Amino acid sequence: MPTLETTVDGLKLPNPFVIGSGPPGTNGKVIGRAFDDGWGAVICKTVSLDASKVVNVQPRYARLRSRHTMDEKGQGEIYGWENIELISDRSFDTWLDEFKALKDSHPEGVLICSAMEEYDKTAWQDMIGRCQDAGVDSFELNMSCPHGMPERRMGAAVGENPDLLEEICGWVMEVAKVPVWAKMTPNVTHIEDPARASLRAGCQGVSAINTIRSCVGVDLDTLRPEPAVEGYTTPGGYSGPAVKPIALRMCMEISKLIESEFPGRSLSGLGGVETSHDAAEFILMGSSTVQVCTGVMKMGYGCVQQMCDELLAFMEKHGFETIDDFRGKSLPYFTSHSDLVKKQADARAAKKAAADKKKMVRGDAEWDGDDFVEQSDALARG
Ligand SMILES: Cc1cc2nc3c(=O)[nH]c(=O)nc-3n(C[C@H](O)[C@H](O)[C@H](O)COP(=O)(O)O)c2cc1C
Repeated sequence: MPTLETTVDGLKLPNPFVIGSGPPGTNGKVIGRAFDDGWGAVICKTVSLDASKVVNVQPRYARLRSRHTMDEKGQGEIYGWENIELISDRSFDTWLDEFKALKDSHPEGVLICSAMEEYDKTAWQDMIGRCQDAGVDSFELNMSCPHGMPERRMGAAVGENPDLLEEICGWVMEVAKVPVWAKMTPNVTHIEDPARASLRAGCQGVSAINTIRSCVGVDLDTLRPEPAVEGYTTPGGYSGPAVKPIALRMCMEISKLIESEFPGRSLSGLGGVETSHDAAEFILMGSSTVQVCTGVMKMGYGCVQQMCDELLAFMEKHGFETIDDFRGKSLPYFTSHSDLVKKQADARAAKKAAADKKKMVRGDAEWDGDDFVEQSDALARG
């Protein structure tokens, strides 16, 4: 019988499905609900020391819907989701109380603290120390929020700069007593650069990807870009099924980096996961865990049960006993384009040689009326 239980960086998870940082982990109440519904781990909405600086706007989401497929409410299915939401606007002390309460009510639940601070060593180390004293099981460093925070040298401003990233991850690793993952922004040309920086600083793993900087569209009546707040907007972060191909590619590149330069480190994959099939693809690209954020906002917390059942069925079909049995299994099939050209030329040449060999009659019984001329040619010289 296959099992979904898995141990990642020493954390024991009942299954690889993790609530990604965002609204689905925005307070103790919903985090408790996620544990009750069977999620393997929960990453809280990103916390910071001074939440009074966090001021959100309404509306702050804008969605893209399919013109062809309907969801269960009879509306075009949502495939893309932009948000201009900031990190948590709830106070740090409130969060510390909730972390303690959650560890009392759900001692088995793996509670991961998403953390972000300004470029200040004391602030980062203070925050990490106080959260781990409150009992969190590990950290995910949000170096990747593409809107709002970069104006204050936080989030993607750090994630886009490998030197800054390495320095801050280093500060965290000086004080962290639990595993640390650094969350990558996809808004870079080479994802290996920030991933390498955080792993070089000692982080146990990386998460990829955060949202993709985007402008979701323009209202053609008002001519205002969406989501419009008092008629104006700002570029936001794109998520949901539309981003999955980009996320998978980046996970593949990070996995190859881990294999070659940091064996044993972990990857947590996310971006558009809504089904067990999506999750299996991220695991095949080398992810140890798979996070879901937008999917929970569309389907609710209960979707994890179907994902678990279907992932087990997939494992059974292929004869995989554990997640590690198929983690990274698709990675060897990525190569360069020039190698594809060579492989195809070799395969065609081999096929032609086999066909020529077939035409070369070895006994008179093999002569065939349809192929008679080709068979004669194959035996001839000149
Ligand atoms: C409304 C919303 C709020 C988010 N807030 C955070 C956040 O506070 N911290 C963070 O690290 N990521 C945040 N994210 C990013 C997600 O965790 C995730 O990286 C991204 O949305 C891609 O995954 P998905 O397609 O499963 O949502 C947020 C995403 C959404 C849609």
